[in-house]
Amino acid sequence: RSVNVFAPATVANVVCGYDVLGFAVNAPGDEVIMRLRDEPGVIITKISGDEGRLPYDPAKNTVSLSVQHYLNHIGRPDVGVEIELFKKMPIGSGLGSSSASTVAGLFAINTLMDSPLSKMELVPFAMKGEEMACGYGHADNVAPALLGGFVLVRSYEPLDIIKLPYPEELFCSIVFPQIDVPTRDARQIIRSKILLKDAVVQWGNVAGLVAGLYTKDIDLIARSMKDVIVEPVRSILIPDFYKLREIAMENGALSFGISGSGPSVFTFTRNEDDARIINEKLQKHFLWLDTESIAYRSPI
Ligand code: HSE
Repeated sequence: RSVNVFAPATVANVVCGYDVLGFAVNAPGDEVIMRLRDEPGVIITKISGDEGRLPYDPAKNTVSLSVQHYLNHIGRPDVGVEIELFKKMPIGSGLGSSSASTVAGLFAINTLMDSPLSKMELVPFAMKGEEMACGYGHADNVAPALLGGFVLVRSYEPLDIIKLPYPEELFCSIVFPQIDVPTRDARQIIRSKILLKDAVVQWGNVAGLVAGLYTKDIDLIARSMKDVIVEPVRSILIPDFYKLREIAMENGALSFGISGSGPSVFTFTRNEDDARIINEKLQKHFLWLDTESIAYRSPI
């Protein structure tokens, strides 16, 4: 028996919600083909699209590792599976690349086991993969990759994840400057202490964004897309970040910010045409970096 599973790219943080907000996009995404085999153990037989960067060793690969955790948890360590992994998005891009693969793997094994766990119950297993990939098991990529749409991680201990509504007409465009920013490094440069006055601005914006999503108030969403804590530090990793913001905003973007830990940047727009135009302009500015434009429909 075999299954073929797709899991989408995700935009984590959504500017003001470091580690607590994320949403899925319709493309790109990773794919996993998983087959049951006779001997116990999780093995990886193929990885494509990773430029040779991902390990085949089942103890070191986030997909096999989280699948093994899952099998142990449901009391089926006797089960054997083989995994083929098709990376369809760049690693270290800020698009939740490791999350998409891990989530596809977990959904695949859960399906092969006749779905004993709900998608929500799979989240902690996917977080194990994130912990391995970047040192901390944050959920703002894996939860939207599993659940779709917009997601709020209200609390990590205990885990409390809430799906949020969103306006149908909201579009997202993403541009990936083809440089590598490992999430592990991008997390280390953030200050661990923040000023109360910055916290006040930040939680006002997070609350505003969530209120805007619930009331489908696009202007409120746009006003709330500000980050005074993480972006000022991480933007130094992204060439010409503030120039790119200017270009996006001049061309009708509702907002502009870093996708996850970068280097990808994303905008919200009111329609698909604006998303496309902004992507073209951003890419033109960035020709020397050989950008890749990644589209669009947000969220799924
Ligand atoms: N919330 C995480 C971070 C997302 O910003 O480090 C990583 O993609």
